[in-house]
Amino acid sequence: MAKSHPTDPTADGTPVIALRGVTKTYANGKSALRDVNLSVPEGDFVFLVGPSGAGKSTLIRLLIREELATRGKVMLEGRDLARLKRRDVPKIRRRIGIVFQDFKLLPNKSVRDNVAFALEVTGTPRASIKPAVERVLRVVGLAGQADQRPSELSGGEQQRTAIARALVHDPHLFIADEPTGNLDPLISWEIIQLLLRINEMGVTVLMATHNADVVTALRKRVVGLEDGRVVRDETGAAYHRED
Ligand SMILES: Nc1ncnc2c1ncn2[C@@H]1O[C@H](COP(=O)(O)OP(=O)(O)OP(=O)(O)O)[C@@H](O)[C@H]1O
Ligand SMILES: [Mg+2]
Repeated sequence: MAKSHPTDPTADGTPVIALRGVTKTYANGKSALRDVNLSVPEGDFVFLVGPSGAGKSTLIRLLIREELATRGKVMLEGRDLARLKRRDVPKIRRRIGIVFQDFKLLPNKSVRDNVAFALEVTGTPRASIKPAVERVLRVVGLAGQADQRPSELSGGEQQRTAIARALVHDPHLFIADEPTGNLDPLISWEIIQLLLRINEMGVTVLMATHNADVVTALRKRVVGLEDGRVVRDETGAAYHRED
């Protein structure tokens, strides 16, 4: 997927994500992130962990430019998000695929149409929508359920639909904010396997999670936040610190 982009702006080693001294203080005075530094190279798989309220979702909101940093720099593929021109925001957003704990699917549309809608709203030519949708539905293993509506799917299938929708733009970065929070352990593992496959296709993955079993089993990079600060950043790590 991302590997096939011929004019890959990160091919020169620019990190996909770079935060430099980032503080986010919300309007109510709450500082959700404090002087955060983080660099994520292309192809990395990163678990973002920490107690409820530590700032994980806030960090993600900064990455998709839903919020701006109060201080410091948030850079995506080398581009400072605070200095992005308004017309460039949708272009950058399409380089990111994102899924959440609640799948945020359109209830009155089929699986196929939920995924197709993501391309329709960006003005993708009709002729290229169908093959792109069929391709991602095969990737997530939902080709057989394409005509069903979200209410006719299991939780795992709903999340896989959301993943298909997030993948259909060929993102360079895939962000998952607690994607298994509503799923039982077995189905959670299926979703994780899918994220690992997406990572193997060359897509950088950042996943915020409280799922200790998954984090500890996979021994990936673990970035820990506590009270808005990065308190650990270890590769091959467990959910809980082992020292
Ligand atoms: N829009 C907002 N306005 C004010 N404070 C906010 C806002 N959003 C989040 N916060 C506060 O910022 C802090 C960090 O919240 P955030 O949602 O980033 O935490 P989190 O690590 O994602 O937690 P969880 O694991 O529960 O999802 C919390 O204290 C929260 O109350
Ligand atoms: Mg959160």
